[in-house]
Amino acid sequence: MIENVANDIFLEEKEIKLENLKLIKFLWPFIRPYFRIMCLTTLLVFLVTFLELSIPFLTGKAFDGFIVPTNSYNGIMIFGFDIKSFTSFGIIFSAIVLTLFIVDFSQSLFMEYAGQKIILNLRCALFSHMSFLPVAFYDKNSSGRLVSRVAGDVENMNEMFTSVLIFMFKDFLLMTGILVILFTMDIKLAFYLSLLVPVIVISIWLFSKIMRKIFRKIRQKIAEINHSFSEAITGIKIIQTNSGKNKFMERFEKLNFEYFTASLLQIKIFSTFMPFIGFLGVLSVAIIIWAGSFQIIDKSMTIGEIVAFLTYMKLFFRPLRELSEKFNLLQNALSSAERIVHVLNTDKAEHRITKKRNYIGKIEDISLHRVNFSYQRETQILKNITFHVNKGKSIGIVGRTGSGKSSIINLITGFYPLDSGSILFNHVDQVSVNIEDIRKRTALVMQDSFLFSGTIRENIRPSDSDIDDSMLADALKNANCSFLFEKFTGLETEIKEGGRPLSSGEKQLVCIARAFASNPDLIIFDEATSYMDSQSEKKIHDAMGKLMKGRIAIIIAHRLSTVRECDTILVLTDGAILEQGSHYELVKLKGEYYHLLRKEKI
Ligand SMILES: Nc1ncnc2c1ncn2[C@@H]1O[C@H](COP(=O)(O)OP(=O)(O)O)[C@@H](O)[C@H]1O
Ligand SMILES: [Mg+2]
Repeated sequence: MIENVANDIFLEEKEIKLENLKLIKFLWPFIRPYFRIMCLTTLLVFLVTFLELSIPFLTGKAFDGFIVPTNSYNGIMIFGFDIKSFTSFGIIFSAIVLTLFIVDFSQSLFMEYAGQKIILNLRCALFSHMSFLPVAFYDKNSSGRLVSRVAGDVENMNEMFTSVLIFMFKDFLLMTGILVILFTMDIKLAFYLSLLVPVIVISIWLFSKIMRKIFRKIRQKIAEINHSFSEAITGIKIIQTNSGKNKFMERFEKLNFEYFTASLLQIKIFSTFMPFIGFLGVLSVAIIIWAGSFQIIDKSMTIGEIVAFLTYMKLFFRPLRELSEKFNLLQNALSSAERIVHVLNTDKAEHRITKKRNYIGKIEDISLHRVNFSYQRETQILKNITFHVNKGKSIGIVGRTGSGKSSIINLITGFYPLDSGSILFNHVDQVSVNIEDIRKRTALVMQDSFLFSGTIRENIRPSDSDIDDSMLADALKNANCSFLFEKFTGLETEIKEGGRPLSSGEKQLVCIARAFASNPDLIIFDEATSYMDSQSEKKIHDAMGKLMKGRIAIIIAHRLSTVRECDTILVLTDGAILEQGSHYELVKLKGEYYHLLRKEKI
């Protein structure tokens, strides 16, 4: 299941095939609340089409009735009504045009409303779902690509609901109506005209096929550009300070040029196709005028009818140009929908773990028993890990970079599933406890402390709790964050992207305050003081000590002094526990810990 999730589904090259029926079934809950509005809109489309089709008909009638002077009869018959004066015709005609405008306007408005609402709900569902996806999903999908895909996919679907579907239907209706009218007006003329139809159909089909390929390439390039851009912003300091810049610029220029070439090709093909369709339109007018002149001479058609015929043809060619474009958009939107459904569908299994099962209450006891784990099947990361810790006690984990320290945390917090062995909370197996509840009771302070943009209050206040400002201020005080009140504006301090304007030590203290505010049962420090200067480190240590009291603490460090006070220390090498015991026990053992200690002192 997890492996399935971990696939990079946003790679443009990859097409996820989902049957249309399944797609509709999945989207139905989003569509259902607005289905009635959509039905109403469809009815309005019929009305709009009818009104639009009546205009050339009336124009033709008006020609014969009022303009062509040879006619003996002055006036026209419309649906059995005898309209004698041009003024009353004008009034009727204006009324129809006005109605058309109003109906067309309301139809667009309703459709836009329904479409936007559907998309709003879909976007919310997508966002909330993605915030629960397993971390493995994000290992494989880069953030730049995710952002551009999710935004792009939702936008594509938006377009489908608001402009593609209904307009395609409208165009189709209009064209069918026109064909029927043309054939009833004059079979011979309509037949001449229909000779062009295969040419049109084939060229549109060819055009769509070529364009689809190019569009896909363009989208792929945009995704890559976004990806490298977001990567560049993340690593802007590296790029600006050392040779990263040249390499990055080279790669970016290459991508940009490829995008340019693809776009240019698109424009070239577009500007060949559009005039071609235009040419066919002019050709058909020529045919009608040529053939129609014979009809007029032998009196089988009136001038008004020819005028109506020509107007209908113009109406016929207008949607033709757009239909191929709309068809592309539809195809696009469908593959977007497939991807969105795929995301929404991913990993219901993890949800089952997170959503249901036991609430164990306060975490008082954690034990790992013969835990084996690997990110990818081939390389085993953790081997036979067994340890136990309970309330008020602390575990220190030391070991080289890459020895698997953080991976242990990833398992305890349920971010990845175990290969074998078990993790017990209060003697209950992790797979049967509500992991969200465990996460809520856990505070994680990491090496690269992360603050969201917003105020300090928003950053440290736990969600769904009624903790007030004075308690938040206490948390800040406990975490040695008095500088916030001295240098900044306390809880109101505005944090910008990347934690500006705080220093990394200050950021870390705020993270500890956040942990204080959430009043956790389990507190985990993952190399929380690694990059700190000695003064910041002291402050952080002091805050850590206060925070650990009466809780379970897991402290990861590569500096031994950080874990010295821990009740139990694990020495990890290559994913296995080499030694385990208190500082004095391990020193007495004169093994790896002792060895490391001596090296550190030198
Ligand atoms: N998301 C991941 N996917 C695949 N391998 C990973 C992932 N995270 C870490 N690893 C690998 O697991 C090993 C242990 O990593 P980690 O637990 O982060 O080490 P430590 O925290 O001790 O430095 C490393 O070899 C690392 O390359
Ligand atoms: Mg680590």
